[in-house]
Amino acid sequence: MKDTELVGVQKTVSPVLRAKALDNRLPDPILGDKYAEQAMRRLDPDYDSRRFGTSQMGLAAVVRAKAHDDWARSFLADHPDAVVLHLGCGLDARVYRIDPPATVDWYDLDYPSIIELRQQFLPPREHYTLIGSSVTDLTWLDRIPRGRPVLMIAEGLVPYLTETDIRRLLTSVVDAFPTGQIQFDAVPVWAWRTSKWDPTLRRYGTQFHCGFNDPATLADWHPRLQYIDEAPMNDSPVLMAKAPANVRRIYRFMNLLPGMKRSTRIVRFRF
Ligand SMILES: C[S@@+](CC[C@H](N)C(=O)[O-])C[C@H]1O[C@@H](n2cnc3c(N)ncnc32)[C@H](O)[C@@H]1O
Repeated sequence: MKDTELVGVQKTVSPVLRAKALDNRLPDPILGDKYAEQAMRRLDPDYDSRRFGTSQMGLAAVVRAKAHDDWARSFLADHPDAVVLHLGCGLDARVYRIDPPATVDWYDLDYPSIIELRQQFLPPREHYTLIGSSVTDLTWLDRIPRGRPVLMIAEGLVPYLTETDIRRLLTSVVDAFPTGQIQFDAVPVWAWRTSKWDPTLRRYGTQFHCGFNDPATLADWHPRLQYIDEAPMNDSPVLMAKAPANVRRIYRFMNLLPGMKRSTRIVRFRF
């Protein structure tokens, strides 16, 4: 399997991985992910010769990954017996970054073609299972041990699913486990509606399929689900502290525009 054989939404793994690889080269990186560099080099050996520098979009993706990592670490510190469902994992090295104890069972799920690339680029580890499946074919849930706390992470995935599929996914996960945390990022309705004209998404032959102006309301989908909070992204202190001055200026300006400060919302729920 080569990355050239990836289609549509599967191609979106490349820009986020590139952003993490470039971040890792900074003297004081935000994420500091050495596996991103290794995997990116295998995916596209010339990735850094084209447009070097952490792009604006790239920095936001790195900040998003850091927010998800921080929440995941904190949940696993309180629930060392948890099962982790990392859905739409792409080539993200979260399991290696977080390096959970052996009491945690971690599942990385994505389309079979992405999982095949992961197997080529990233090392196996104990208590770690790869599942090659569409997240919407919920039979994969039958393979997950029950009766333990669950942490569901969906980074950069939800906008590519339909609202019907997300609802089935969230309610099925809550029904399947006694307790847990669900964390994901979503885009607002305007970003969904305009995504068919987004040049990057067009290049990959994909678009968003849903948007939520207030993702907290998704807690209404299940009586046991409770909204916890949202992590900042475009105005995140880490972004403002680490971005080069020109990028910081762009974000400050962008954040004044209606809707832009929350053009992606990183949210978490408990049950
Ligand atoms: C923008 S990438 C994010 C990858 C990774 N989570 C990260 O942040 O680096 C979106 C990922 O979602 C996956 N994806 C999209 N729809 C999916 C589906 N129905 N089932 C499984 N994976 C899906 C894609 O294959 C891709 O790996």
